[in-house]
Amino acid sequence: MAGPIPRYLLPDNSSVTDGRLSIGGCDVLELAEEFGTPLFVYDEDQIRARCREAVEAFGDGVAYATKSFLCTAMARLAHEEGMLLDVATGGEMFVALNAGVPAARLVLHGNNKSEIELRMALEAGVGRIVVDSFDELDLLETLHSRGLGPASVLIRITPGVEAHTHDYIATGHDDTKFGFTVSTGAAATAVARAIDSPAMTVLGIHAHIGSQVFRLASFVEAARAIVSFAGRFDLNELSIGGGLGVAYVEGETAPPISEWAEAIQQVATEEGVTARIMAEPGRAIVAGAAITLYRVGTIKVLPGIRTYVAVDGGMSDNPRPVLYGSGYETFLPGAVDAERPQTVTVVGKHCESGDVLVRDGFVPDDLRVGDILATPVTGAYGHSMGSNYNKVLRPAVVFCKDGVARLVVRRETYEDLIRLDVE
Ligand code: LLP
Repeated sequence: MAGPIPRYLLPDNSSVTDGRLSIGGCDVLELAEEFGTPLFVYDEDQIRARCREAVEAFGDGVAYATKSFLCTAMARLAHEEGMLLDVATGGEMFVALNAGVPAARLVLHGNNKSEIELRMALEAGVGRIVVDSFDELDLLETLHSRGLGPASVLIRITPGVEAHTHDYIATGHDDTKFGFTVSTGAAATAVARAIDSPAMTVLGIHAHIGSQVFRLASFVEAARAIVSFAGRFDLNELSIGGGLGVAYVEGETAPPISEWAEAIQQVATEEGVTARIMAEPGRAIVAGAAITLYRVGTIKVLPGIRTYVAVDGGMSDNPRPVLYGSGYETFLPGAVDAERPQTVTVVGKHCESGDVLVRDGFVPDDLRVGDILATPVTGAYGHSMGSNYNKVLRPAVVFCKDGVARLVVRRETYEDLIRLDVE
């Protein structure tokens, strides 16, 4: 038994008229009719507000982590709002450059950057490359000997900090594939070598302890570790990475970007750091700005066991419940203020029992086949980690603002599914 969906889990610019939800002034049931389902509906002004909050808090050193959600419109939006863009692959770099974001505004990540990716970055003039391994240092030197570079780099260190999050997305502890380990001395060796190398200019140090982290104390610990490590070198930039968590379900709370920044800046102040403090939030910028709309197709009641509510998407548009056991809420955007006395399991249309979107979702008693059902807080790592498993078409994405819904990613078509087949 649950009450209505808590409003704080809905996008900032949500309003309810006669029980019906509007986002950015757009009635979401009408959006479902116009654009079809599943549909990602973003509150554009909320994304802009979060970008501004980040830029205000960190200044000109904060990057949007595009892995959380990227399309041409999103790259342009983050750039327009003054953020750098963190790209972790050649693909993300391509989308950002193709959107018109200047290469100098990009930060290239990756634990296994290919020669092609590094060449692409150096030729385009990417502003910062975050070096992750000794093999990458070798590769940058080889490319330099062939006339490319010097590269402007940050060195990614692994500070030995436990982030208190899901194991799959924790990266700050020693046993990780990412970065140069501080405790073994590898990090100090890497920085010294990079400083001496004509193939690169070392701008600073970077660390990313993990994702969906709620505890500011973990970031403070990481910031202290970075500052203490970097103290022996004279560098201009220190990056704390991303990872600030968001609330997905009732009862969770997460610190806002401004408090996260304050906690980190405080360490810098206490330690007398003059270097620029940088960060790269993804989830905290986009997660809460979107909901996903689905249409209910079947309802299977198993008395005494459970009720399965099947919708027209699933693990292909939100693999997070399957991957991390992540929890989500569910509600009917046509009855936002309704009590939700019924507990159901919301599943997708894929050929797997694991294809669960919401294990325990609360819905009104009168839920019917054909209803539009929504999951809030789906703006990060849903669309971007989506697939077309079972040849299910990837959903469309709309940005809503001032009563206008802008289609920014069209729905995949059956023709798209055979685009790459050569015979
Ligand atoms: N910087 C680096 C180097 C990262 O690896 C990441 C995320 C970020 C920034 C942004 O982190 P955020 O602020 O979004 O937490 N698929 C997982 C999250 C994986 C995050 C990977 N790296 C999920 O759905 O929870």
